[in-house]
Amino acid sequence: MAREFPQSSEIWHGDNLELLAELPDESFTVIYIDPPFNTGRSQARHVTTAVRSEPGVSGSVGFKGKSYQRIRGELRTYDDTFDDYWTFLEPRLLEAWRLLGPEGTLYVHLDYREAHYAKVMLDAIFGRDSFLNELIWAYDYGAKATRRWPTKHDTILVYVKDPAQYHFDSTAVDREPYMAPGLVTPQKAARGKLPTDVWWHTIVSPTGKEKTGYPTQKPLGILRRIIQASSREGDWILDFFAGSGTTGAAARELGRNFVLIDQNPQAIEVMRRRFGMDPDADSADTVVPPLEDTPATRAAAKPKTPKAPAKPRAKAATAKAPAVKAVKTSAKTSVKAPAKAPTATKKRAARAKVTAQEPPLETEASVVAEQIVAEQVVVEAPETQVAPRPRPVPGPGLRRAVPLPESALAD
Ligand SMILES: C[S@@+](CC[C@H](N)C(=O)[O-])C[C@H]1O[C@@H](n2cnc3c(N)ncnc32)[C@H](O)[C@@H]1O
Repeated sequence: MAREFPQSSEIWHGDNLELLAELPDESFTVIYIDPPFNTGRSQARHVTTAVRSEPGVSGSVGFKGKSYQRIRGELRTYDDTFDDYWTFLEPRLLEAWRLLGPEGTLYVHLDYREAHYAKVMLDAIFGRDSFLNELIWAYDYGAKATRRWPTKHDTILVYVKDPAQYHFDSTAVDREPYMAPGLVTPQKAARGKLPTDVWWHTIVSPTGKEKTGYPTQKPLGILRRIIQASSREGDWILDFFAGSGTTGAAARELGRNFVLIDQNPQAIEVMRRRFGMDPDADSADTVVPPLEDTPATRAAAKPKTPKAPAKPRAKAATAKAPAVKAVKTSAKTSVKAPAKAPTATKKRAARAKVTAQEPPLETEASVVAEQIVAEQVVVEAPETQVAPRPRPVPGPGLRRAVPLPESALAD
């Protein structure tokens, strides 16, 4: 039975393909995903034979008159890894397309081993004119290869649902320091510059307070920027490979609602902790308390324990205030946010402009120490079998020709 659309932000546990099917069309303004590459699946080799579309069938004729089916078949014969990857990701990307509202944007976070595969797939699903950007998240940490250029970046592919309607507000994002501030006016230097499509940002510091312990955790600063630019306050954000819940953490700070999905119980536990929920509570408790209602904020709101009598200055500087006892949250007692299920028109009417000012992203100069592990290892959940289900019927996103890169299609 389809579940009701959440009234406020929630965390869902399970295979995303099954859970996404329960969500209504066009519910989200931003979808961010950071999918695993090595799914660990061994698919039966699947070669789609060429299927030429009937002339005039909308959305089915692609590059050089080849059908989407044919392009897909050709690419999937390229190698087994790609075949596995495509089989896993394609139905989920189709769901992402269905779930995006007309102003919506999809961000797909990838590493260099997979970005090109995913780009071809996304061009085919969304259409080339829906491709907005290829963002490069550049970092610099850990060991460096000496036999090739050390790979120190991730790629985030950005696609919009409708190139004529998508929301994008570059002025809402945090600004960056100029590389050569001496070359601009002091006012400009103080204000910082608008980011480009290359974002320098540290990885999550293993000793910083942002760290959750989840191995593939991405930095909040990256997600903040994405959400600031592509959504407004009150909008709905979805991450269906949620991991430690970074997308939700950024969305929550910025006054957006969210649904986070992950199939790994450890990810659910980490997210529950991160959002001030009881990590061991019944998994039916999915509601994330609003930011004002976390143990930290409640502890801060508690009347302070009276301080010890004043001491001479020198000693007072080292004297510690009595520790404030941590409040354990039960998700059952969490207060639901008043937000309602979205409809595209309702949301648009109620939107307020985001005014939150985020601190600028850190630059290369502040990279974390070299002792950090060399590569972010993609640790994935034990695989669950995905129940076979009918392929989602492509919507009008597949409406147009699919002009794929010539190199990818060379006969
Ligand atoms: C690279 S991690 C995401 C990390 C996340 N961006 C963060 O900042 O913590 C990918 C996540 O996808 C989850 N995952 C993989 N396959 C899944 C599936 N079929 N359904 C739901 N979650 C899945 C894994 O459990 C893992 O937590």
